[in-house]
Amino acid sequence: MTISKKSKRLLLTFLNDLNHCNDDMSIFIKEKLKIETENYNEIYLEILPECENQNYCDFYGKLLIKELNQPKGVVFTPQVFADFLIDQFIELPEQPGFKFLDLGAGIGNFYFAMIRKIQEKLENEKRWTVKDIILNLKTIYSVELIEEFVIFQKIRAYFFFRKFFTQKEVFQIFEALVIYQHDVFSEIEVTTLTKTLVSNPTLSPKFFDFIISNPPYIGYRHISKSQKLYFKKNFASIYTGLNDISYYFFAHSLKLLKKEGKVVILTSRYFMEARYAKLLREILLKNTICTIIDIPNSNIFGKGINSVIIEIQKSKPLRTHAIKLKLIRKQKKQHDIIVGILHLPERKKLQAEFSGEVWNILTEKEEEIIKFLNLDSLPLNDIAKIGTGFHTGLDEVFIANIEKREEQYYGKVAGKQDYELESSLIKKIIKTTDILPYIVNFNDRYFLSVYRKNKIADYPKIRQYLENFRQRLENRYDCKKNGVKWYEIAQIRNQDIFDAKLKIVCPYRMVKPKFAIDLVGYYSSIDITMILPLKIDPYILVAYLNHPIVKQYILLTAKKLDGKKIELYPEYLRNLPIKKSLLVSNELLTQVQSNVKKIIHPENEESLSTFELQTQIDRTMSKILHVE
Ligand SMILES: C[S@@+](CC[C@H](N)C(=O)[O-])C[C@H]1O[C@@H](n2cnc3c(N)ncnc32)[C@H](O)[C@@H]1O
Repeated sequence: MTISKKSKRLLLTFLNDLNHCNDDMSIFIKEKLKIETENYNEIYLEILPECENQNYCDFYGKLLIKELNQPKGVVFTPQVFADFLIDQFIELPEQPGFKFLDLGAGIGNFYFAMIRKIQEKLENEKRWTVKDIILNLKTIYSVELIEEFVIFQKIRAYFFFRKFFTQKEVFQIFEALVIYQHDVFSEIEVTTLTKTLVSNPTLSPKFFDFIISNPPYIGYRHISKSQKLYFKKNFASIYTGLNDISYYFFAHSLKLLKKEGKVVILTSRYFMEARYAKLLREILLKNTICTIIDIPNSNIFGKGINSVIIEIQKSKPLRTHAIKLKLIRKQKKQHDIIVGILHLPERKKLQAEFSGEVWNILTEKEEEIIKFLNLDSLPLNDIAKIGTGFHTGLDEVFIANIEKREEQYYGKVAGKQDYELESSLIKKIIKTTDILPYIVNFNDRYFLSVYRKNKIADYPKIRQYLENFRQRLENRYDCKKNGVKWYEIAQIRNQDIFDAKLKIVCPYRMVKPKFAIDLVGYYSSIDITMILPLKIDPYILVAYLNHPIVKQYILLTAKKLDGKKIELYPEYLRNLPIKKSLLVSNELLTQVQSNVKKIIHPENEESLSTFELQTQIDRTMSKILHVE
């Protein structure tokens, strides 16, 4: 069943009439639904029973999202999770007046978790009266951009209070509710029909005791120019053009908090690693970070978002302050994540150990691995050169269309006969999937390497083929901006690495790290990172890089992408620690070297399988590194 535009209007009408309605609300809806159109009976029959069960939020919330054409960055925080976080992080004071804000409240799952908490307290104290509720709820704010969600929260509030009080009393309570439609990044107040119900339209700085937020998931590409200008002006200390919108929710929350106030943010964990989030991390560290609950590869939202929960107090951190850390990995069920947060062991680490650099939350054992590998080591950059490959600007023309048949190379053009090509500019290329541990499995892919030093007049056949794509080639960025000729590839980086006789290659993005020796001099694009060993034996280096402890180090420290992939960009590899013990030759290293050669040159008679050889190499390398 889909919700129609009319149904959305129904929500608005419903609210409009809220103050004037004398009948019981459910009767009101019933009447409305009947009056509007017959078809709504169907919706009504589904919604109303759910409304009465208080479970309609999920149901109607989803319909609303559909009706609004999936507004940018919106997912609802599961109610169980919202309830749990409110219970975990908030302790209500004795007296009313606790200033709370659900920032970017959506359909108000945190806000209602808070109302429930207040209800429990007042009931306990036998003060669940209209007067006390009003007193307590006056300072509990919900702020949300999208009008329909705001209205929906009001419907929720109506049903919630109507269970306990008369309609007249509910309307009294409504006067105190601060469910507010507002763009927190705008100086202009939004005037809508909801305005009549808004009692306090100002969100003043240094006002709140506690803010909770699950900010929208909106990356820089989807932030408008005018919004970026607003952020640049108002959040200069963290601004980079690449920030997610959530970074400004952090900064804005800190502005709105009183001194010593706290904010809890549930968001994507990438801000702990992203290069462009360095300024944000630095600003956060000027405050006291109380808790970080890192939840990688888990599923709070049913959408594979890698989440983190962070609790920050607006106060200068003491030197001795330790952050409470929890790590909940690979939990697919909300329930298991909650159990993990409650029962997995907590670690503490001095805040002073954190900086603007990547925040990596690890177990004690994992930290030991990192310490171990860094001990007596030097960065790979000191003994090797690292870089990525070429960039054509139009892979279809320079790679995908090139074929080899019976020792002759051809360029394919749709609707025409294949063009024969001069072979001297054709290179063998490899892609990510061709790289296995230790060896490259070439898959018959070729690359037309017309570069600056080549005169196109010397290659008439290639020119004829390329002429078919001239307009598209001329339109490439590097042709327009960097003076690249229409028939040249856009950029060839690290020609010296390609020219070398032997190099190590690894995929730029992968699930499991793997490094191979390339003896052929394959070319590759930016999907592969290349290492040219200069002051270390390549066979020993490749064995080290493929060793389980190094792979584990990489999995722990490399940038994590969506899904289970990690990214091995050159800058990261340049800093990879290489044990100095690999640079001084000895018996064990010679054994490793010889076994790697056996894998790479299988033409030599070898009785052991590749797997057995790899196992032997790993064992010997473990002895060299002194690990079990
Ligand atoms: C991830 S959702 C939060 C969901 C909410 N916790 C719930 O359970 O319903 C983020 C919310 O922030 C709202 N939002 C986005 N930009 C906003 C802005 N500038 N001001 C206020 N709210 C905003 C979105 O409309 C969305 O409802």
